[in-house]
This record gives sequence, C-alpha cells and structure tokens, in this order.
Amino acid sequence: MAREKSKENDGGWKKFLWNPEKKEFLGRTGGSWFKILLFYLVFYGCLAGIFIGTIHVLLLTISIYEPKYQDRVAPPGLTQLPKAVKAEISFSMNNPSSYAEYVAGISKFLDQYNISRQEDGKIFEDCLKGGDYTDRGPISPENGQKRSCRFNREWLGNCSGINDPSFGFKDGRPCVIVKLNRVLGFKPKPPVNGTFPNVHDVYIPHIIPIHCTGKKDEDHARIHTIDYYTVHGQVGFPLSYYPYYGKLLQPNYLQPLIAVQLSNISKNQDVRIECKAYAENIYYSDKDRFQGRFDIKVEIKDS
Ligand SMILES: *[C@@H]1O[C@H](CO)[C@@H](O)[C@H](O)[C@H]1NC(C)=O
Ligand SMILES: *[C@@H]1O[C@H](CO)[C@@H](O)[C@H](O)[C@H]1NC(C)=O
Ligand SMILES: *[C@@H]1O[C@H](CO)[C@@H](O)[C@H](O)[C@H]1NC(C)=O
Ligand SMILES: *[C@@H]1O[C@H](CO)[C@@H](O)[C@H](O)[C@H]1NC(C)=O
Repeated sequence: MAREKSKENDGGWKKFLWNPEKKEFLGRTGGSWFKILLFYLVFYGCLAGIFIGTIHVLLLTISIYEPKYQDRVAPPGLTQLPKAVKAEISFSMNNPSSYAEYVAGISKFLDQYNISRQEDGKIFEDCLKGGDYTDRGPISPENGQKRSCRFNREWLGNCSGINDPSFGFKDGRPCVIVKLNRVLGFKPKPPVNGTFPNVHDVYIPHIIPIHCTGKKDEDHARIHTIDYYTVHGQVGFPLSYYPYYGKLLQPNYLQPLIAVQLSNISKNQDVRIECKAYAENIYYSDKDRFQGRFDIKVEIKDS
C-alpha cells in the first residue's frame, strides 16, 4: 500500500516536471512559458530604460563648470597671511629669525600678485576701470575661459613688500594680508549703508567692507592704530572680482586682497584682533570660526 502510494507520488512528480499528455513543463505549456518570459523581458526592459533615461537626463542638467545645487554652501571663510599656528603670531621685533617664517609666507603668497605676471591680456583684464562696478556675467562655458581681474601687489602700499621686505615686522608694525576664500559662483551682496563699521566715513557701494578691531574690551585699549591698504583706498573687496568662475574657466583667478597693518598696538602683551567681512549674505557661525571673520592673537616683543 505504502509502496503503491510512493510510486504514485513519484509518477506525480515526474508528471509535473514533464507531462507528455498535455505537453506541459513544470505545469505550463510552451506557449504559457513564452508569454511569461516575454512579459518579464518587457517589464525589466522598461525598468532599465527608465533607469538609464533618468541618469541621462540628470547628466544633461549637470554642468562640469559649476555645482548645480549650491544653496547650502556656507559663505566663504575670511583668512589671513601669515598663517598663524593656533591663531597666534608672536615675534620679537629685534630678532629677524623670530619673524622670518611669517615674512617668507607672505612674500611667497604675494609673488603671484606681481604685475609682471599679469601682463597677458588674454588671461587678465582690468576690472576696476574708474572704480565702477562691472557685472562679469553668468558662469557659462560658451565664451571659453574667463579672464581674471588684475590685482597689483603695489596697491598694498607699505604692506606690498616692495619698499619694506619685512612687511613691517622689523618695526613692530606687522602687516596681515586678508583674503576671502574663493567659492565658485558666490556673489557677495554688499551691506546697506550704516549697517557696518566703516573705516572711512564715506560710504562706497560695490565693495565688501572689512573691519578689524579688538576682540575684547581689554584689547580695544591695546590697539592704537590700524592702517588698511587696498585697491583705490577702499577698505573692502571690490565686487567686480566676483564671482569666481572655477578652476576650469578661470585657472588664473586672483582673489582681491586687503592689507591690515597693526601700526601701533601695545607691545609685550597679547592683543586679540578680530577682522570681519560685511555682506548681506555673509554671516558668522559659532561652529566655523573662519566663516566671514577670523581672529588672531598678536604679541610683539620689543626686546
Ligand atoms: C615679485 O616682486 C617682488 C618685489 O618686487 C620681487 O622681490 C619678487 O622676486 C617678484 N617675484 C616674482 C616671482 O616675480
Ligand atoms: C608708509 O611707510 C612710509 C615709510 O615708513 C611712511 O612715511 C608712510 O607714512 C607710510 N604710509 C602710510 C600710508 O602709512
Ligand atoms: C551713508 O550713511 C551716512 C550716515 O548715516 C550718511 O551720512 C551718508 O550720506 C550715506 N551715504 C550714502 C551714499 O547713502
Ligand atoms: C602709539 O599709541 C600710543 C597711545 O595712543 C601713543 O602714546 C604712542 O605715541 C603711539 N606710538 C606711535 C609710534 O605712534
């Protein structure tokens, strides 16, 4: 009995695999299998098509020249030269080796700002004709590479290193070169008159003003004179230098600079100086100490 049943089962299994009477394989006829295969072929074909199509459309909308979604990019950092380990600049004005590293750092950086390196009119142009603002147009590869605005280191006056290769360090009046880090496509929006500390009394539109001052109350009393050197005497970064069009379109871009000379600060004690850039779309963050501002501790020993 048991044997019979198992035999029957066996036959059932074989029959399921291949049923010669109904010509069914695994319970389906050839036509049925064909329809199923066809269905899945079309189904997966469509899926693949949608996938490839989506990627393709996405790639079409992406530009290699600028990031597509940039609204979350933080405002640029404000940084300074010489680079200061732990934001501390400490030197003795009578000991050149104590400031040699600072001076070398500034000097190396400013070499690219030599006007002799900006003569090629195919690469550079003057953007500050008459001090007016010129919009530099959208980021688009159609016109090929974008020329960069000239920035002559001579504009940095006593901090240009041309007359005084020690950048004021030997006289205890050190220069600090201030720059806004380049951010592709970022166009700073100048602040409204009266909403920022103005170094000069005149209000100049089309610049991003910067201002340096003591970090804390005790520092204010230790800072007697700060001098600024910048293009056309305007203490700010001219808007004409923005936006930065990126490495591909503007490989020779030069950031505009401002030199801040600590012409008379108290000697032999720490003086904390904070510099800020002012623009409607530059704000400050407690998390990022360099966003739109920086502070450094300076100690000048006169012995
Ligand atoms: C840039 O100019 C400075 C000062 O005139 C000079 O000492 C330096 O050698 C120049 N550097 C280059 C790379 O031309
Ligand atoms: C630049 O330095 C020279 C020589 O030290 C000095 O006479 C002149 O007043 C300085 N210029 C400014 C704007 O401080
Ligand atoms: C800027 O503001 C100052 C002080 O409020 C005012 O005297 C000056 O005329 C203003 N300048 C411009 C160009 O609006
Ligand atoms: C620096 O400032 C102090 C305080 O205002 C002043 O007494 C001193 O004469 C100034 N030094 C120089 C070199 O200007």
